Amino acid sequence: MCGIVGVLGREAVAGQIVEALKRLEYRGYDSAGVATLEEGCLTRRRAQGKLRNLELRIKDEPLQGRVGIGHTRWATHGKPTENNAHPHASDRLAVVHNGIIENFRELREELTAKGHRFDTETDTEVVAHLVTEELRQGKAPREAVAAALPRLRGAFALAFLFEGEEDLLIGARQGAPLAVGYGDGEMYLGSDALALAPFTDEITYLEDGDWVILTHAGAIFHDATGLPVHRARQRSMASAFLIDKGNHRHFMSKEIHEQPEVVGRTLAHYLDMSEGAVRLPFDLPFDAKDLASITISACGTAYYAGLVAKYWFERYARLPVEIDVASEFRYREAPLKKGGLMIVISQSGETADTLASLRYAKENGLVVLSVVNVATSTIARESHVVAPTLAGPEIGVASTKAFTCQLSVLACLALAFGRATGALSAEREAQLVSSLIAVPGLMAEALKREPLTEQLANQLSRARDVLYLGRGTSFPLALEGALKLKEISYIHAEGYAAGELKHGPIALIDEDMPVIVIAPFDPVFEKTVSNMQEVAARGGRIILIADQRAEHESSIDFQAVIAMAEMEPDFAPIVYAVPVQQIAYYTAVHMGKDVDQPRNLAKSVTVE
Ligand code: M6R
Repeated sequence: MCGIVGVLGREAVAGQIVEALKRLEYRGYDSAGVATLEEGCLTRRRAQGKLRNLELRIKDEPLQGRVGIGHTRWATHGKPTENNAHPHASDRLAVVHNGIIENFRELREELTAKGHRFDTETDTEVVAHLVTEELRQGKAPREAVAAALPRLRGAFALAFLFEGEEDLLIGARQGAPLAVGYGDGEMYLGSDALALAPFTDEITYLEDGDWVILTHAGAIFHDATGLPVHRARQRSMASAFLIDKGNHRHFMSKEIHEQPEVVGRTLAHYLDMSEGAVRLPFDLPFDAKDLASITISACGTAYYAGLVAKYWFERYARLPVEIDVASEFRYREAPLKKGGLMIVISQSGETADTLASLRYAKENGLVVLSVVNVATSTIARESHVVAPTLAGPEIGVASTKAFTCQLSVLACLALAFGRATGALSAEREAQLVSSLIAVPGLMAEALKREPLTEQLANQLSRARDVLYLGRGTSFPLALEGALKLKEISYIHAEGYAAGELKHGPIALIDEDMPVIVIAPFDPVFEKTVSNMQEVAARGGRIILIADQRAEHESSIDFQAVIAMAEMEPDFAPIVYAVPVQQIAYYTAVHMGKDVDQPRNLAKSVTVE
């Protein structure tokens, strides 16, 4: 999604702005731009494509302004051209924007009738003209922004720079995140703390509806009603995280390899390793034994983590789980029982649909527990209870370590609920906890299959379609495998419950169709063997991910077997995610794709 940076500096700020924008690259973008005041006059440099293009543009035509705003744009309204790139400007101001202005058409008509001329296809340009119209009525910049903001509908974050105003930036937040940073004689605006980490670790997050006036003297916050409000400063941990690729070619590779460590760290937060029991690091505002059911909502990979957790909550706590993708859940008017529990799962904590599901659940009287990776995110702040994943910043657009950390947290919650409902015996809990404690080591072991996954990926890169199959908790992992492959390699892939094969997808099977079967040695393994036989009988090429026992028991001629260590099969998705991710990663690398920033995708999806 789009990234916003603003710097009210002491020297030329264009370089700082571009540096900060680089730290927002992980969010995904397709054009970028900077505006500064050159001797009081608004001056812009914009470029299609990567930030490198913008840097070259600035090198050719340097900027010296000491105040400026910058933006990475992920196109929503209009193509990713230079003309549509932000900042958008009038003769009075420049603005950068993240999100969507829903009523931009009607505002554009109104402003066109008043003589404003629009040059782009974007919704953002309407904001520039709306505030300009207020300035033309004789208002000062602050009053003009205050008058314009209530007229905008949608979810957005904005940063404004005004012609002739060397000591002023204005930011606004409605649904999309925005933070203020405090430096040494400098002030900053940024979409997140990561962007501002090179400059400061002292930040304030705007609340929804807030807008802020930045001058060298400090920040003055206003709430949605326009009244000045106090917003607390906090120390950001963002600078503690090294945002580089280490020895890896891509962030995705680094993040896959970090999993034993971050999953271990996450589990240690939820488990009492010496007692062999789950110890939640927070108090629950309900007793799980009083719950009638659990509702889960999330998007993409986070949704698949929830789908795995459904099996765990139902198996260990005997609690029925209703789960839906957030974009459906938020609109289908699901009847919810007051006092029930809603679990939302999100890496970024800013996903618009997931946030809307959370708000719907709260309006209906549910307690919301969020499993999030960004502790300062909107979803975290609006939840009743936050169950953090300790994955650290995930930069690659393809979610990897956040997924396995989400699974780890959800597994611990399911065991804790199982104990509370009485459905899980102390003995079984202890067994399962010791299986979880073994997971990071097993992930490290799984990483050793890398040469084989790389070799298989070489063959997969020639496939047109790939089918992923699994049963039980391996079914959501099959869906996740297909998502991972298609989002970074652009090969069409589908995940299916293995038992559904004969109800349709078997028609696709031939010798050109690789079929990746995820089959730990679990109680449904025999059933999966039957499905693999159906595939083999039709000439399908099977790549099996399973432990050695499973391989011996099946007597099928596989194209390849990724042999995993024996483990508690219920938790296999956490460990088996490693080869699944590596298959996708190496296939995309082999095909020369942009692994960390695949086309059309954004890291943090703050629009619906
Ligand atoms: O930040 P979130 O976890 O809420 O994001 C949800 C999805 O957008 C995300 O998982 C997406 O599907 C990833 N690109 C998958 O790799």
